[in-house]
Amino acid sequence: TKRVTVRDIAAAKARGEKWPMLTAYDALTARIFDEAGIPVLLVGDSAAMVVYGYDSTIPVTVDDLIPLTAAVVRGSKRAMVVADLPFGSYQASAEQALTTATRFLKETGAHAVKLEGGRRVLPQAEAMIAAGIPVMGHLGLTPQSVNVFGGYRVQGRGESGEQLLQDAKALEAAGAFAVVLECVPEDLAERVTASLSIPTIGIGAGPVTDAQVLVWQDMAGMVPHTAKFVKKYAQIGEVLTDAAKSFADEVVGGVFPAPEHAYH
Ligand code: KIV
Ligand code: NA
Repeated sequence: TKRVTVRDIAAAKARGEKWPMLTAYDALTARIFDEAGIPVLLVGDSAAMVVYGYDSTIPVTVDDLIPLTAAVVRGSKRAMVVADLPFGSYQASAEQALTTATRFLKETGAHAVKLEGGRRVLPQAEAMIAAGIPVMGHLGLTPQSVNVFGGYRVQGRGESGEQLLQDAKALEAAGAFAVVLECVPEDLAERVTASLSIPTIGIGAGPVTDAQVLVWQDMAGMVPHTAKFVKKYAQIGEVLTDAAKSFADEVVGGVFPAPEHAYH
């Protein structure tokens, strides 16, 4: 099967089609989402929280994310796999960004990278695009800047909305193929989406963006406390808790394994 490409993503916007993106961090879930028809899988630096147990994305490293990204590529057949560049792996210079992105493409087979920021990371975006690496932008609540924002709060209200729009236009002009808008007012997301010819991917940005992304553990109800913008499409956390308790009860009670689970 042929993978989804940046050309398919561009064509979807031209046709006015909306599309979903989910995060993935391992081969099994990547295969499930791929077979469910999710066209783009993001190996987010949110792995810092949902895989590695940190309380922000700041600590996670390239070496932490490379094996996860490689697993997602191996587990999927059709989806485009986007590798998130972690904090500290691209901010220093265009050269650092290109070196990091090159590692992701060569060592994992990922098809694109994502970085946070607008005009402040333009040299980085341009260098990667010039080298043939598709780049996804990320504006608004960029979690790697949590210490500047002073918490996880809505971004782009009032005057800063105009700055965000200029950042989005700059990313498009640099050749980015899509831009994530995280936790911004709905009317700003609408303005940005109407102003760009590349797709916007919303998370907490209202219904107007061209695409929507959620962290899969949030989407599937694995995480008890989530932001207002999350919709839980299942209660996997409860299902898994019940399964673990049943297994425990049956082991303690001598019910499992039954004769059919043994080799005679
Ligand atoms: O790391 C992540 O999961 C992300 C998405 C929420 C866009 O950056
Ligand atoms: Na991220």
